[in-house]
Amino acid sequence: MQDTVRLNNGVEMPRIGYGVYQIPPAMTERCVRDALSLGYRSVDTAQCYGNEREVGAAVRSSGLPRSEVFVTTKLWGGRGYRDTAVSIDGSLKALHLDYMDLLLIHEPTGNFHEIYRAMEDAYKAGKLRAIGVANFLNENYKRLLTTAKIVPAVNQVETHVFRQQRTLRKLLDENGTIHESWSPLACGQNGFFRNPVLKEIGERHGKSIAQVGLRSLYQQGIVIIPKSTHMERMKENMNILDFELNAEEMESLYVLDLDKSQFGWW
Ligand SMILES: NC(=O)c1ccc[n+]([C@@H]2O[C@H](COP(=O)([O-])OP(=O)(O)OC[C@H]3O[C@@H](n4cnc5c(N)ncnc54)[C@H](OP(=O)(O)O)[C@@H]3O)[C@@H](O)[C@H]2O)c1
Repeated sequence: MQDTVRLNNGVEMPRIGYGVYQIPPAMTERCVRDALSLGYRSVDTAQCYGNEREVGAAVRSSGLPRSEVFVTTKLWGGRGYRDTAVSIDGSLKALHLDYMDLLLIHEPTGNFHEIYRAMEDAYKAGKLRAIGVANFLNENYKRLLTTAKIVPAVNQVETHVFRQQRTLRKLLDENGTIHESWSPLACGQNGFFRNPVLKEIGERHGKSIAQVGLRSLYQQGIVIIPKSTHMERMKENMNILDFELNAEEMESLYVLDLDKSQFGWW
């Protein structure tokens, strides 16, 4: 039984997924197949990662029913309604799938109201099971809500112990949008894998720094999609369900929040 969260349209999304950013296309099919063999049931790709084709190939050759794997991709560089409609069909073709489980606008660029309208129409046409956004921080998220007919199911934003996004989280909760973390391990920035607070908590629970960082997000109901090309780490990153951080430990992690991007993007 997968551990899932219910999106605002009733679709169930796995709370732990597998991200494929920066995995070269030549390695992607192997990595995604490894992840699926270990029990991951959600894969996060994007048009600009250049590996949608390989993600789709791995899903199709995994032996798993299509309905058991949740596939997310993200639109890149759209300007408006028409090019987005074409771009959605392009992703379906690259993935070689009949539908996508979740489509996100990768960044709040172009006329994102019109881009989103094209996504709403593709959703109504059955090409997408859910739609949402990524990197829409407070103001852009609110702006989109003024025209969206369908409230975004998910907002995928940089979230880890050094950027906890608590203000945005509240806004998303109020509107029924699920908070998804990208770079849940901070992609190693700011000495994440050497952090003494995470290390000390991990030692108490017999868990790694990565597992403590992931658990702290998971425990707050944030969807996580850690990336690793190594099977041992893929396994480690999933193995966070058998321990719990207490209030005091969570408190000691809250103070690690620097409230600013570790990547200088959004
Ligand atoms: N929407 C957006 O704008 C956006 C932006 C960035 C990312 N994302 C999504 O979020 C996913 C995750 O983010 P991310 O890939 O940037 O970073 P991440 O998952 O926070 O960290 C990945 C890095 O940590 C290493 N790692 C993974 N597990 C480890 C472990 N248990 N112990 C030690 N090192 C470990 C990986 O190396 P190895 O691979 O060598 O193990 C890799 O260098 C992406 O793959 C992508 O799907 C979205």
